[in-house]
Amino acid sequence: MGRTRLRVGLAGLGRMGRIHAANLAWHCPSARLAGVTDADAAVAAAVGAELDVPVLPSYDDLLSEVDAVAVATPTGTHADLVTRAARAGRAVFCEKPVSLDRRATVAALAEATRAGVPLQVGFHRRFDPDWVAATERIRAGELGRVYLFRTSLRDMRSPRPDFLAGSGGFFVDVTIHDLDVARWMVGEIVEIGAHGAALSDPAFAELGDIDTALVTLRFESGALGVIDNSRSAGYGYECSTEVLGSAATVRIDNPPRHHYRWLTPGQASSGLVRDFQERYPWAYAAEIESFARSVLDGVPPRVTGADALAAFDLAGAADRAWRTGRTQVLTPVQTADGVDYGAG
Ligand SMILES: NC(=O)c1ccc[n+]([C@@H]2O[C@H](COP(=O)([O-])OP(=O)(O)OC[C@H]3O[C@@H](n4cnc5c(N)ncnc54)[C@H](O)[C@@H]3O)[C@@H](O)[C@H]2O)c1
Repeated sequence: MGRTRLRVGLAGLGRMGRIHAANLAWHCPSARLAGVTDADAAVAAAVGAELDVPVLPSYDDLLSEVDAVAVATPTGTHADLVTRAARAGRAVFCEKPVSLDRRATVAALAEATRAGVPLQVGFHRRFDPDWVAATERIRAGELGRVYLFRTSLRDMRSPRPDFLAGSGGFFVDVTIHDLDVARWMVGEIVEIGAHGAALSDPAFAELGDIDTALVTLRFESGALGVIDNSRSAGYGYECSTEVLGSAATVRIDNPPRHHYRWLTPGQASSGLVRDFQERYPWAYAAEIESFARSVLDGVPPRVTGADALAAFDLAGAADRAWRTGRTQVLTPVQTADGVDYGAG
């Protein structure tokens, strides 16, 4: 593609869409926000005016004006929007997960492959400088043999009830990020166990969902892993990890919100980040920049459709482990596209 900046259209301007909108407008040298659309016309008009970008009345109108689209609509709509982008020949960045349904996920990925359009899925931690550096050093062998992977992902407070109802449940919406990172940092997973509880609000149990989870992993290499997740941590948003190996241990702590502490007699306090936007400003910008760069340079995106499907399958296995109380045994198979965990 001869352009220096990819013209990206953005569909969905809620919590996540606004982050992508600001990044596409201001923080991506290889992309330009070429238009926005949202099911709520007032929301689209407000974002269009704020960022001084065209507002398109429909997704199909958006597709006709751009080189690529970013999809940040509710999860249940993704597969259809990915399919329509592929059929229009547009590269797609799609928020995670691609669908709440495995068959729809596979079909949408197949449409992108058939159309020959790049598809990248929103696993932003793979673009955060700290996580990238740690993973590169693990892969270079500097950690030695990996013994243990541990990670925490906790939201400060729960999303809106209507979001929860369409989220696909805790493991597919939240833990999926950690499962992707586990594969990326340590390797494929052959066993998964899970405990879950609804503790902070009866609304979770009424939806058949949970707000707190512990997931245990056994990797193909023999290493063990543990993930803890919460929808309602209260004190702030946390995303941290540790990988313990025979030669070294890497620890990525949650950074403070500000780089100063306030000292009073016998006390020191510092701010805590409150949400994913505050924790990962660079990662969200870098993932979209990387997407645009890969489309312009004609190279595959760094997170593929196969990665999205693998994380979705692992999240499904965690969900089954929680519901049945039984550890799930998995058989990851190497394919031409990546690794396939099968339907489970
Ligand atoms: N990567 C991350 O860290 C992260 C964080 C939060 C959410 N997400 C993902 O982002 C997606 C959106 O989540 P959110 O929290 O921003 O949701 P949200 O409800 O805040 O926003 C969704 C927006 O999409 C609009 N919309 C709905 N249907 C549409 C359609 N068919 N066409 C155009 N616009 C439509 C809604 O009006 C709303 O403005 C979800 O798939 C979620 O899993 C990812």
